This record gives sequence, structure tokens and C-alpha cells, in this order.
Amino acid sequence: MDHFLYHDGELHAEDVPVAEIAAQVGTPFYCYSTATLTRHFRLFDEALEGMPHLVCYAMKAASNQAILKTLAGLGAGMDVVSAGEYMRAKAAGVPGDKIVFSGVGKTREEMRIALEGGVRQFNVESEPEMAALSEVAVSLGVEVPITVRVNPDVDAKTHAKIATGKSENKFGIPIARAREVYAEAARLPGIKVIGIDVHIGSQLTDLEPFRLAYQKVAELTEVLRADGHEIVRLDLGGGLGIPYERSNAAPPLPTDYGALIRETVGHLGCEIEIEPGRLVAGNAGILVSKVIYVKSGEGRDFLILDGAMNDLIRPAMYDAYHDIVPVREPAPGAEPAKYDIVGPVCESGDTFAKGRVMPHVGEGDLVAFRSAGAYGAVMSSEYNTRPLVPEVLVHEHQFAVIRPRPTFDEMINRDTIPAWL
Ligand code: LLP
Repeated sequence: MDHFLYHDGELHAEDVPVAEIAAQVGTPFYCYSTATLTRHFRLFDEALEGMPHLVCYAMKAASNQAILKTLAGLGAGMDVVSAGEYMRAKAAGVPGDKIVFSGVGKTREEMRIALEGGVRQFNVESEPEMAALSEVAVSLGVEVPITVRVNPDVDAKTHAKIATGKSENKFGIPIARAREVYAEAARLPGIKVIGIDVHIGSQLTDLEPFRLAYQKVAELTEVLRADGHEIVRLDLGGGLGIPYERSNAAPPLPTDYGALIRETVGHLGCEIEIEPGRLVAGNAGILVSKVIYVKSGEGRDFLILDGAMNDLIRPAMYDAYHDIVPVREPAPGAEPAKYDIVGPVCESGDTFAKGRVMPHVGEGDLVAFRSAGAYGAVMSSEYNTRPLVPEVLVHEHQFAVIRPRPTFDEMINRDTIPAWL
């Protein structure tokens, strides 16, 4: 459920007509709904009620500080994967003890920044990383709480580019080697083992892979405890999928996911952390774009938008489906049209949809890409020297630009010309 609905013939973001934002901000732009962000965060928080827990929003999904502040205000922690994300979370006012540092290749510099600024825990992904973290912690005279990310070798049944829990993926340490690695962790100075971490992939629409992974984590908890390790926290990662295509069966809800967590690891008495990103932000955001031209091609009509692959890369990168709807509500019973929906960037991959059946739209009309809040703006670029797409946050009847569109000068003047030219 989201808060982008038609009222009086116009798509609204909460109580604000989307066309009104477009008139002020220009297109394309991302627009987020505070009510949807809030609702989705709370669904997770409530799903874990009764167990000690912290929902650490995977801020890679949408990392604007206004979004982070909204979620932090509801009690969210943050899952970060770089020094940049760490600093952003701090800048948004998230305290260090609510920031979990994940990621497969943390540098010593990133470790130092987080240890100096305060961190809830590091999720360590390899033995060399653990050795480096130990060194950095000792040099700063601190002891850092860690979990080790285990790779449970489970098929997440999602797109290959976003599956992370199979043994051929680069993430975590093979679960079969966990005892050795934990024994090494216990020997290293500056490091304190507190738990286990797992994350098997993103856009999971079936709970079974989670069940398999969490059962393995539960077994491992008992084994490591028997080895004398203090396992008091389980970080179960993110990955719960969202309904991109409304015609498909709805994916499981956070309540179902919470019940599964209770069932698989609830008896262990551990504090539970989860790291959802997509389900919190995905349906809380739309990308609004304008039709530049409708061009008749050979046996097809192209809808040429002012938004492009640089603004929303998911269709080009993962063949991802996004619902594309007109901002003006179509008349009931109006005949649909069929379009290849493309952007202006100079490659054929700049195609959002082929043969998409949708209501008729014409030059100058606004369209909205639904479910674009996660992995949308954060993955945008300036390819073709197109300004980074701006972001807007709506709260009831108010809206604010939370990242302005850069001017051409701002973009161009970042280049510096060497003295010999
Ligand atoms: N935790 C870790 C360690 C992760 O690697 C990820 C996502 C998450 C949590 C959050 O997963 P979520 O709840 O959002 O599924 N760009 C891709 C998605 C990449 C996901 C990467 N890791 C896309 O547009 O589909």
C-alpha cells in the first residue's frame, strides 16, 4: 500500500497533486511520501514486537538525509556500506550506536572513521578484513563489537545480480568454515564477537530461502555457543521483496516475515536486527517524467520521456518492471495504447518498457514510474551530462525539495583543466 492515489482526476502524493510539484520543480524528479515510509518502517518494527530488536534501514536503497531523518525519528537504526553512507547517517543525526557497518570491502580508513565516530557493530565479511579491523581498533585503543557474515549457500530465487547467499557469490564466509573463523576472531585483540550476520539477496518474493538461511543461523548459534562464544545478536539482513507488477501474486508481508523470524530464531534469546531497504522505500517513491514526443516507428509507437536510464537504471540493468501511469487519471473505459517507453539517452538500453499497454498519453503529459523509491535516485548518474535528478519529499499537504537539480554550471564547473591545456 502506498500514498500515491488519484483524487479529482489527478495523481496525488499524499494530499499534494503531483502536477503541482512538477510545475514548481520541473521534470524529471523523484517524489517520496512520508506516510508510506512511516507505514513500511512500522510494519517491520511491529512484526518483531516482543523480541528485542532494531530495524536498521539499508540506506543504500534511498539515502537522502530527509528520508534518514524521517526513519530515524521513528526509531530506525541504519545499515551502511561505506564511509560516505556512515557520514550521511551521522549528518542526518543518527547516533553511532544505531549504525551497523556492512560491506564486503571496508577499507582501513572507513574502519577508522566509523570507530572514531561510534558504531553499533561491524558485520565482518572475511578473515583479512577481520585482521585489518583488529589492527585499526587496537591502534585507536577501542574494542569493536562484530558479527561475522556467513554465506549459507542458499538459493534466494531472485535476479542473479542481486542474489548474495550462494557459495559462488562474493559475500560472507562459507558457513562450513564459521567455527574456524570465530575461533580466530576470539583470538584477535580489539575485537569482540557478539553475533552472526546473514543476508541472502534482494527482492525475495518467497519466504522459503529465508527459512533455510535462518535455520542454518540458528544451528550455528548453538554450535558457536557450545564453542564458548557469546552470541547475543543476530543480524538477519534485508531482502523482502515488493509488488512491482500489480498483476503478480503479492509477496509475503513483513508480518509473515516477522513470524518466520520468531519461528526460526526466536527461541535463542538473541537481539534481532534486520536490514530492510527496498520494502521501506520502494513503494514510497515515484519518478515523475514528461512525454517529450510520441514517435511512430515501424510497427510501434515510442513514448520518448525526459527521464532516462541515468535517472532510473533498474530496467536497463536488471530488466526490472516498473508500472508507468499517467498523472492525469485516464477516463473510465478509455481504450489503452501500446508503447515502447524510452528515454533520450543515446543507447538502445535506455528503454523502460517494450510493448507496454497503458492509457493513452500525449506530448507534454506527465507520467509516474511507481515503486521507484528504492535503488532509484541513489543509482542515478550524470551520463550524457544530464543533471542529477532532484528529489522531493511530501508530508500530508506540504512538499519540500530535498535535493535540488544541479545547474549546468554546477555540473560543468566540477571539471578542472590541467595547466598544460
Ligand atoms: N543488507 C545488505 C547486506 C545488503 O546487501 C542489502 C542490499 C540490504 C541489506 C537491503 O536489501 P533490500 O531489503 O533492499 O532488498 N540495486 C538492486 C538491489 C541491490 C541490493 C543490494 N543489497 C536493485 O535495484 O534491485
